Amino acid sequence: MSDIRTAIVSTAHRPDSQSLRVSQVLKDEFLQGNADIIDLYADALPMWDGVTAATDNVSKTLQTIDQADALIFVIPEWHGMAPAGLKNLLLWCGAQQQMAHKPVLLVGISAAVGGAFVIAEVRSSGYKNTRLVFTPEHLILRGVGDLWKEEGSASGEEYLSKRTRFAVEQLLDYATALKPIRSKLVAAQAEFGNGMS
Ligand SMILES: Cc1cc2nc3c(=O)[nH]c(=O)nc-3n(C[C@H](O)[C@H](O)[C@H](O)COP(=O)(O)O)c2cc1C
Repeated sequence: MSDIRTAIVSTAHRPDSQSLRVSQVLKDEFLQGNADIIDLYADALPMWDGVTAATDNVSKTLQTIDQADALIFVIPEWHGMAPAGLKNLLLWCGAQQQMAHKPVLLVGISAAVGGAFVIAEVRSSGYKNTRLVFTPEHLILRGVGDLWKEEGSASGEEYLSKRTRFAVEQLLDYATALKPIRSKLVAAQAEFGNGMS
């Protein structure tokens, strides 16, 4: 059993989301139940405005992320975009160190044939001050309504399952490699609280 702690963030802040269902499948089927799930609908965070104090949900969420060695962001494509709740979480983290130098596996979700936009969007932003580290592998789960419902029920399911095992294994390998040097990396950036623009 790996000593790597993984936090899965279901970034869909709407009820009955596929993102939450997929997050549960990732935890149960691909991480042997060894993960925390952060549900940005059930544990909604207030919109960051720089004035409002952190709520219990904010503190609990950042604590779960702080305790994790590896992160998975499950991101639905909404109007071609990542949900605002994900950006809001990144704002609450800001230049604090809960995410710094932790590997993140991105999982794009679409009921149809979308999902690539959110991968491109999130890969191009959000890491500057959080210092999170996107793994080179990502997943795009299309036709998600039929995926992993029943064994063999969705076409391509076998391939996607194999690909998901590969991506999760890679995430855990990155986490294992980064864990021993993380405190050094965090200490070294003390002089440079923000990434360069
Ligand atoms: C507000 C909204 C906008 C959406 N826009 C897109 C889109 O641009 N591309 C797409 O492939 N699916 C889109 N969908 C459908 C999603 O793929 C579908 O809801 C899927 O289940 C997303 O995951 P979720 O259930 O976690 O929200 C949209 C859904 C919502 C609720």
